Amino acid sequence: MAIPLPRLRTLLGASLAAVSLSVTGFGVATAADDPVETRVIGGERASIEDHPYTVYLTTPSGIQFCGGALVAPDKVATAAHCVEDDSPSSVAVVAGREDKQGTAGEVVGVTDIWVHPDYVTVTSGDDIAVLTLETDLSYATVEFAAAADDAVYAEGNPATILGWGVTETGSSSRYLLQAEAPLTSDATCAAGYGISYDSASMICAGYPEGGIDACQGDSGGPLVVDGVLVGLTSFGRGCAEAGYPGVYTRVGAYAADLEARIAS
Ligand code: ARG
Repeated sequence: MAIPLPRLRTLLGASLAAVSLSVTGFGVATAADDPVETRVIGGERASIEDHPYTVYLTTPSGIQFCGGALVAPDKVATAAHCVEDDSPSSVAVVAGREDKQGTAGEVVGVTDIWVHPDYVTVTSGDDIAVLTLETDLSYATVEFAAAADDAVYAEGNPATILGWGVTETGSSSRYLLQAEAPLTSDATCAAGYGISYDSASMICAGYPEGGIDACQGDSGGPLVVDGVLVGLTSFGRGCAEAGYPGVYTRVGAYAADLEARIAS
């Protein structure tokens, strides 16, 4: 029983703290409940130099609402649900910046938004979009999983989640955070989400007991195995709940789409 989450833009319109309790029904332990997890859902600070392809999306006024991955100098892969209703002029991409309050890196405009033509809602898959940037960026791009690459999707592969989304505090993170969690088997993910999990278009990561996960605001951002982009943060039931690993767009299933966008 996955709960499709509203677009983060909508979430940010309201109080994040209130929304995290009412809309997403956060099952995450609070800092008071669990003094061990003081940051994100089990995460820690990440260096943008180590993950230079990690970007975030902002509104024209500079509010971060999703993540993304630089797959070519002028192409950012992100989640369809992040940008499905947006016009290019309503989105900017921030690259090379770890601290949302800093000025490092670059802010670039978007000239085109391609949303997967079959995208309807996160739980039906195809949660992928590609932004074309108005200028080429010089940050290193990330290699993405190939269509035939089943090895990177093996159960237990350690995967790194990256983003500026909501932490245990109920607010989104000022700094880029990373967390590591194993990819789950299809059976494990389906045990939680039932028919909302589609193994052809999704991949899950998390521990059976929860505790480490992406959360609101991380959507569209990278899930990386061995330096290869395998997922884009898509949805989850709450965040870091036992039995409900994070669900990511299975990038390898869309390798041909990405190649086509990059060639366009
Ligand atoms: N849909 C959320 C977003 O727009 C991402 C939620 C991810 N949730 C999770 N438990 N992994 O930011």
